[in-house]
Amino acid sequence: MARVVGFLREHLIGHADWEERVLYPLVDRHAGGGPEAFTASMRLEHRIIARWTDELAREASHREPDIGVFCARAHNLLGLVMAHLEEEEDVLLPVLDRTMTAAEFEREVMNQSGASASGTTGGHR
Ligand SMILES: [Fe+2]
Repeated sequence: MARVVGFLREHLIGHADWEERVLYPLVDRHAGGGPEAFTASMRLEHRIIARWTDELAREASHREPDIGVFCARAHNLLGLVMAHLEEEEDVLLPVLDRTMTAAEFEREVMNQSGASASGTTGGHR
């Protein structure tokens, strides 16, 4: 259980933080901007993923964790993550494909200091 929680926090949530700092603002700009962010629902899904990861961590920290409770929440989380990745691949990234050249993407995203783009731009599947 601790390894599952550690993986989620280290890899998934860390990557979501990068997306919200670097990738999603770029998608929002290229989707037309405006007061309603194009990526608002994706950001909300990140909040849900973090909350459910915290629930897994709490369950795992019990002296006698309930494996049924842990597995049910982990199953929910896996389904959400799979749908989230499809949304990024099929909805968000095509916005950038339509509006940016590869060179522009490299300049705006890949070269930003502290950027960690692993898993984006086609790397989800
Ligand atoms: Fe994401």
